[in-house]
Amino acid sequence: MRYSLSLYTVSLLPGVLAGWTNPFPVQKCNGMIIEDVDIDTVQSYFHRDLLTAHQLTQCYIDRINLLNPFFHTVIQVNPDALGIAKALDMERGLTGPRGPLHGIPILTKDNIATADKVPTTAGSLALLNSTVARDSHVAALLRLNGAILLGHANMAEFADYIAYDNYSEGYSDRGGQTRNCFNATQQTSGSSSGSAQSVVCNLCMAAIGTETDGSILLPAMHAGIVGIKPTVGRVSRAGVVPGSLSQDTVGPHARTFRDAAYILDAISGVDMRDNATFTAVTSGAATHANFSESVANTTALKGAKFGIPWDVLWSSTAGAVTHRAALLDVFSRMEAVGAIIYNNTNIPQIRDLQNPYGWGDALDTPMELWARTYLHVDLYNGIDGYLRDLQSSPIRSFEELLAWEDTNNASTGALGGGDIWVSGADNFERANATHGVTDEAYYLAKLWRHELSKTGIDTALTHITADGTVVQLDGLLVPMTGAGPYDSPSSGIPAAAHYPAVTLPVGQDPWQLPFGLGIWGTAFSEAKLIRYGSAIDDLVRWRGKPQYYSYNTTKIPFDVRWPGFFDTPA
Ligand SMILES: *[C@@H]1O[C@H](CO)[C@@H](O)[C@H](O)[C@H]1NC(C)=O
Ligand SMILES: *[C@@H]1O[C@H](CO)[C@@H](O)[C@H](O)[C@H]1NC(C)=O
Ligand SMILES: *[C@@H]1O[C@H](CO)[C@@H](O)[C@H](O)[C@H]1NC(C)=O
Ligand SMILES: *[C@@H]1O[C@H](CO)[C@@H](O)[C@H](O)[C@H]1NC(C)=O
Ligand SMILES: *[C@@H]1O[C@H](CO)[C@@H](O)[C@H](O)[C@H]1NC(C)=O
Ligand SMILES: *[C@@H]1O[C@H](CO)[C@@H](O)[C@H](O)[C@H]1NC(C)=O
Ligand SMILES: *[C@@H]1O[C@H](CO)[C@@H](O)[C@H](O)[C@H]1NC(C)=O
Ligand SMILES: *[C@@H]1O[C@H](CO)[C@@H](O)[C@H](O)[C@H]1NC(C)=O
Ligand SMILES: *[C@@H]1O[C@H](CO)[C@@H](O)[C@H](O)[C@H]1NC(C)=O
Ligand SMILES: *[C@@H]1O[C@H](CO)[C@@H](O)[C@H](O)[C@H]1NC(C)=O
Repeated sequence: MRYSLSLYTVSLLPGVLAGWTNPFPVQKCNGMIIEDVDIDTVQSYFHRDLLTAHQLTQCYIDRINLLNPFFHTVIQVNPDALGIAKALDMERGLTGPRGPLHGIPILTKDNIATADKVPTTAGSLALLNSTVARDSHVAALLRLNGAILLGHANMAEFADYIAYDNYSEGYSDRGGQTRNCFNATQQTSGSSSGSAQSVVCNLCMAAIGTETDGSILLPAMHAGIVGIKPTVGRVSRAGVVPGSLSQDTVGPHARTFRDAAYILDAISGVDMRDNATFTAVTSGAATHANFSESVANTTALKGAKFGIPWDVLWSSTAGAVTHRAALLDVFSRMEAVGAIIYNNTNIPQIRDLQNPYGWGDALDTPMELWARTYLHVDLYNGIDGYLRDLQSSPIRSFEELLAWEDTNNASTGALGGGDIWVSGADNFERANATHGVTDEAYYLAKLWRHELSKTGIDTALTHITADGTVVQLDGLLVPMTGAGPYDSPSSGIPAAAHYPAVTLPVGQDPWQLPFGLGIWGTAFSEAKLIRYGSAIDDLVRWRGKPQYYSYNTTKIPFDVRWPGFFDTPA
């Protein structure tokens, strides 16, 4: 054992401690309950003239102003949001709603370009004076569907790719430390920390996050909400500050699968500015789906076939070990309603791909095959290209950005009591050292991991039973768990495969931190993942409400190192 954990009993019930009064109860909005409501409910309020989008937007802005000094989940509110809401209310009165997102306030992560009064900065002060040439494709589609772009959610600066050492998950220079509404001394995970927390804290109806490896799924799991990480090519990345154009995706954070499906319906499709969306369609892989039609209830589990990739993912990672009993209980309940679950549908060669203790590379894999070998190159080229495409900016290249960050104390966190914690830009330095050269080493590392991850998931999905029967599985069940600072490993393999994954909430630990269950599928199987994710959610119905424990803590940083994490190479 490389780590030791204090064992504790896991409770599936949301905890409310004796003597604690929720300091931030969700007030009614024009007399209507808005706490944890879904999009259909809000649409029915709109339809019956019980609430307007303008009133709802004002209620969310008031709540952001109340909570943000403590939880820092929002970087900036769109000063035009109320005006946009009013116009959408008028339009509804005249011509009816455009669709399910009409008048729905949505926060977008701060790395998703919006051509409005909110600067797009990936959390960094370096981009504060830049202007984007246009909306990102995702923002444009949300507007087209009548959503209100309420503002930008806080995030881990440059999506966790600026610093490796001493970094604090969910921290950005512009937004400060994103905190967890369930327990502010616990981490949020990242990098879409503010998006996920804003949804569960009732600061918006839903939010958009981005993921290179874990950044949608992991913060959703620590917020007790639904997260969908789409297949690369399903949703355009144009106008999104890149982590890695090889494997970045954009996806929803929402309270229900139906809400998430409405958003995925709106933002999916071909975009001339993102070639991956073309490949998806020309290969015939991404036929147009209606994701909200896939939302199901418990009955969908009858006869559905799932696999448990036990090796590593369930057997050794800290979070999985800690929460195993609670998650296995969910499997029993699934079986009781007719699901068929096979054990040991393992990912071949998982020990080459996956750190056995948590998020990150396998320790025994040669360094030249680590993900960072190609991710550093992608980071350099992706950000360089993004900066050059800006309408105006004092910083025009990756090297200029790094130079600015170095001279201006990038990611400097103010601790309580006047202490300063400096993280620096050490990961940017490593990316700079590559010059963005896509040489043989780059392709070797990237293609090796991509192929092994792709075939790994597809092989596990084609399960061969002891008697030789071949069973095609509907999904692989994975733990979405943390234990103390040890984050879940259940993101790296779908990330490198470019495959979709979802997470849904199933419980909460005694420190109040939520955890979830994930489902992995093959390329462009989002409809299936939504079907079975919503069916399991209908069965489990975990609906924990944050109690805002330790809301005024000043604890920082949240460092997610664990003993099994590789040391920084010299
Ligand atoms: C942005 O503008 C402000 C005010 O003019 C200035 O203080 C700051 O240094 C500028 N930042 C960058 C990155 O150019
Ligand atoms: C991380 O913090 C420690 C302790 O404050 C410090 O010694 C170390 O130099 C820091 N590392 C970096 C890369 O800034
Ligand atoms: C996208 O495809 C076009 C046309 O094939 C090509 O010219 C361009 O270089 C591609 N862009 C990227 C980023 O791959
Ligand atoms: C999806 O299906 C639902 C139910 O059949 C329908 O009301 C809705 O218009 C469809 N949405 C799209 C985007 O096609
Ligand atoms: C569950 O879904 C099935 C199939 O769509 C439907 O027939 C049934 O009425 C639903 N049950 C409930 C309780 O909504
Ligand atoms: C799955 O198989 C492994 C290894 O054979 C075993 O240790 C584990 O208990 C099994 N899990 C379940 C849920 O049956
Ligand atoms: C980035 O790399 C270039 C080229 O080697 C070098 O000149 C520059 O000093 C580096 N920037 C930083 C801040 O290290
Ligand atoms: C950077 O941080 C150091 C130490 O915390 C401080 O002395 C210095 O003034 C800071 N520099 C800038 C440009 O903020
Ligand atoms: C919040 O988390 C801390 C550890 O960071 C723990 O000591 C504390 O008991 C937790 N609070 C509650 C109310 O569970
Ligand atoms: C935090 O809140 C508690 C309870 O409201 C209060 O007793 C305590 O003084 C506050 N601490 C700080 C640092 O504000």
